[in-house]
Amino acid sequence: MITKELEEYAAINSTPESELLKQLWRETYLKVLSPGMLSGHLQGRLLSMLSHLTQPRQILEIGTFTGYSALCLAEGLTEGGILHTVEVDPELVEIITRYFKASAYNEKIKLHIGKALEVIPNLTGVFDLVFIDADKENYINYYDLIFDKVKPGGLILVDNTLWHGNVLKKSDKGKETTAIRAFNEYLKNDVRVEKVLMPFRDGLTMIYKSR
Ligand SMILES: C[S@@+](CC[C@H](N)C(=O)[O-])C[C@H]1O[C@@H](n2cnc3c(N)ncnc32)[C@H](O)[C@@H]1O
Repeated sequence: MITKELEEYAAINSTPESELLKQLWRETYLKVLSPGMLSGHLQGRLLSMLSHLTQPRQILEIGTFTGYSALCLAEGLTEGGILHTVEVDPELVEIITRYFKASAYNEKIKLHIGKALEVIPNLTGVFDLVFIDADKENYINYYDLIFDKVKPGGLILVDNTLWHGNVLKKSDKGKETTAIRAFNEYLKNDVRVEKVLMPFRDGLTMIYKSR
């Protein structure tokens, strides 16, 4: 939604990504299908900053892909903190675990392979920060499923909430666009939370659970 040049300008004028994250970005683009799903430099730095500001003890990520955003979110974990990340595709395990092991956060990250709707009910404890970034059709289900597991004062981040701008295209009745529109409407009506749909990258919604 902003030009590639402007996004590059913003990235150049932000904290650089680590060599490891750069390598993961490169390997994902060389070897993995749909590499554009990876958060990337600018969003990665934003996730890291929000995690640092939140100082989470427990993070939940839904949709690991190759592990880029998990590594960014893990940067803000407190001493003894843990990040649970859920991914349905077992073919991604090799690359994910290789990069987790090469990072400073391997001991703080627990990877769960399976469908998020089946994995999450088995996770115990309270989350300070949740990042929803998996199949769009289940966004409302994920939101409902995690809501009571988020502590009051916690932060929920939801990715792709502008869906390449397609949310405004009335002719687009695709299942993902429809699901994102439905999620945005559902969230708008939820008085339990404060929310901002930020026109950042593909749309990133920040939700503050005020009660
Ligand atoms: C947009 S990508 C995640 C990108 C990653 N968070 C990042 O920023 O680098 C979405 C991921 O969700 C996974 N996914 C899709 N459906 C899922 C499900 N039902 N349960 C868990 N993961 C799922 C996909 O396999 C894909 O790897």
